[in-house]
Amino acid sequence: MDRPPVWVMRQAGRYLPEYREVRRRAGDFLTMCRTPEIATEVTLQPIRRFGFDAAIIFSDILTPLVPMGAELTFTPAPHIHNPVRTPDDLDRIRIPEPWAGTEFLDSALERVRDALDDDTALIGFCGAPWTLATYFVEGTTSRAFTHVKSLALNHPEIFDELVDRLADAMASYLRTQVAHGAQAVQLFDSWVGALGAEDARRWALRPARRLLEQLEDLDVPRIYFANGGSHLLHDLPDMPCEVIGLDWRADLARAGRVLEKHAVQGNLDPGVLMGPTNEIRQRTRDMLERAPRSGYIANLGHGVTPDIPVSAVETFARTVQEYRYE
Ligand code: CP3
Repeated sequence: MDRPPVWVMRQAGRYLPEYREVRRRAGDFLTMCRTPEIATEVTLQPIRRFGFDAAIIFSDILTPLVPMGAELTFTPAPHIHNPVRTPDDLDRIRIPEPWAGTEFLDSALERVRDALDDDTALIGFCGAPWTLATYFVEGTTSRAFTHVKSLALNHPEIFDELVDRLADAMASYLRTQVAHGAQAVQLFDSWVGALGAEDARRWALRPARRLLEQLEDLDVPRIYFANGGSHLLHDLPDMPCEVIGLDWRADLARAGRVLEKHAVQGNLDPGVLMGPTNEIRQRTRDMLERAPRSGYIANLGHGVTPDIPVSAVETFARTVQEYRYE
């Protein structure tokens, strides 16, 4: 291809009127995830509208925690009603072996793969161990992360056991996704930015590496998205994966030079999509100019939010699709 491929995180979601219509009829977000016909339809919506080069399967990082023992609801904010707070709570966490409990996703992956043409890749995903641990322990999206840091500091062996179990479970979950049609996998480490560099190495990067290493033999590109991870830039070259996803805070040109052995993905600030069309076009072109010339994947630096205009996502997609390498 004489331009970089493009897709965006959270490309299926409430900013799309056709998504809101399906959501209104289905009623509940988890029902959408668990109904293969619906998950397939909403996965394909942004592909039809924007012609992205990759589809990301419609699901959530938290759905695989249900077969592991979490009582999960969305309001739409996620809530785990039986959070892990003490060493004893860890006994409740199971790893289905072999992986089981998300068969709806297998079926959705197969349906989406059948519907996509050969030029469009299907991406599977999971949460990285640290990010999933924050939800398992805090019970919801957190600002201060005091419960999870308390567990990690007061019961370090229990915490290591928790993230290791999450790493092993997610490795077999992603293996299952690849077996059913995923052609690349992305780990979302959405909350690695809540940790200082030392703690991030112990509590986030180490278990993420453990997870990624287990997928070595699968022969699909592994993407590690380190949201808020600029302070870890010099650790990222050691991640056992093919692609590093950069958030919008990172300097794309400088990061590209540090990550010369990886492909990089990202990283326009999704907030820029709230600006005027000319500004979106200019900032997108600037991003493409600053990006490495080979192995680069155009994307936003985090997910599309519900208030972003559809026309802005259209401008972003078209600007990349019309761009040509000299
Ligand atoms: O990218 C895609 O199009 C695929 C689908 C996808 C969703 N969630 C659908 C979703 C993906 C890849 C995710 C990942 C996810 N989920 C992350 C990591 C990405 C990131 O943003 O860093 C996280 C942290 C979650 C947890 C989660 N799920 C939260 C915090 C929320 C509430 C968000 C809100 O807007 O209040 C969800 C719900 C969720 N996941 C929605 C969608 C489309 C909104 C559900 C709805 O009400 O329709």
